[in-house]
Amino acid sequence: MKRIKLSLANQQVEFVDREQALKRIEEWVSRGVAFPQVVYGPEGCGKTAWLRQSAELLRELGFDVIYVNPIEKEFMAELGIQRLKDKLTSLAREVTSQLAWVRVTWSVIDIVREAIRLGRGKIAIIIDDAFQVIGLDNAAIYVKGLLGILEHPPEPYERVIAIAATSESVSRREIGRHEWADIRPIWNMSKEGFKQLYDQLPGNKPDFEEVWRLTGGNPRMLERLYESRWKLNAVIDELINRKELTHDFVRKWLSHLREAVSDPDYLWYNAPEELIDELIEKNLIMYFLPERDQWFWIDAPPPERDPELGIGKYVAWQTPIHREAIRRVLESSRRS
Ligand SMILES: Nc1ncnc2c1ncn2[C@@H]1O[C@H](COP(=O)(O)OP(=O)(O)O)[C@@H](O)[C@H]1O
Ligand SMILES: [Mg+2]
Repeated sequence: MKRIKLSLANQQVEFVDREQALKRIEEWVSRGVAFPQVVYGPEGCGKTAWLRQSAELLRELGFDVIYVNPIEKEFMAELGIQRLKDKLTSLAREVTSQLAWVRVTWSVIDIVREAIRLGRGKIAIIIDDAFQVIGLDNAAIYVKGLLGILEHPPEPYERVIAIAATSESVSRREIGRHEWADIRPIWNMSKEGFKQLYDQLPGNKPDFEEVWRLTGGNPRMLERLYESRWKLNAVIDELINRKELTHDFVRKWLSHLREAVSDPDYLWYNAPEELIDELIEKNLIMYFLPERDQWFWIDAPPPERDPELGIGKYVAWQTPIHREAIRRVLESSRRS
């Protein structure tokens, strides 16, 4: 398989690691899938990178591949039927508004059905981060549309694989209510894989162990640190802003958050549901981590527990920097 090139902090890097996750694709190819595969994981953990590498892998395995990412306004169609390919491509080319991306995303379902009707036998549909754009309340309906392709195709097919990825734990919840998909998490990169990425960044860098401790293997955090010339404080402040971690928010949950920064599992056992909902909604934590058996995860699972990285048995901070952001606001609330 050809390794794709990606850009990280304006540097060209080569796709690394994620061996298990790529093997997972091969498994789906050889055994087929009964359901759409919904993958969720921390923001910036590398879902898009993996999906784009997977698109390459699937193409090499002879699949027609449609990839759409309305958030990053990216779209790729490798379709054996030129007319359909042109149709999708021209739809996507006209796209300027978010609304139009919604239309492209929905039209993928019809076009794949049409391709199957015309006899295409091996198709992969990759929907990356679309749920926010089509609306969280439509996420489950969209997944049902994908399931409809698998279950009631217009013609028999050899292999159809549908994958949808999301950073929104909220949409995962919504989809989880129904039996329309297999839902699996992906975690940040393993230490070995992350080291390969770290090594590709030029220039002076803090010691790898330090970068690992700060990012927990999240490549987006690595990117932000690199771009800010390793100014940790700037990265934390930016996150506080983006997540709107106001003093009011923190004061409201003061005692609970204090516990949660030292042990995220506190949230599992003791926190009010309203707080958990807010932390999930702000994408600060991953809640209800499954057993650390490879089966339940797309790639290598996180450790059973790692207090230093903020990983508990059931709940984890998305990265140590997410936890640091809360800690920082807690401290400044106390002073003010
Ligand atoms: N396995 C990988 N190899 C090389 N670069 C990666 C890898 N995973 C992620 N990256 C880079 O890290 C950044 C964040 O990853 P991305 O895939 O956008 O995360 P997500 O889609 O989960 O939010 C991107 O710049 C991406 O190119
Ligand atoms: Mg993404």
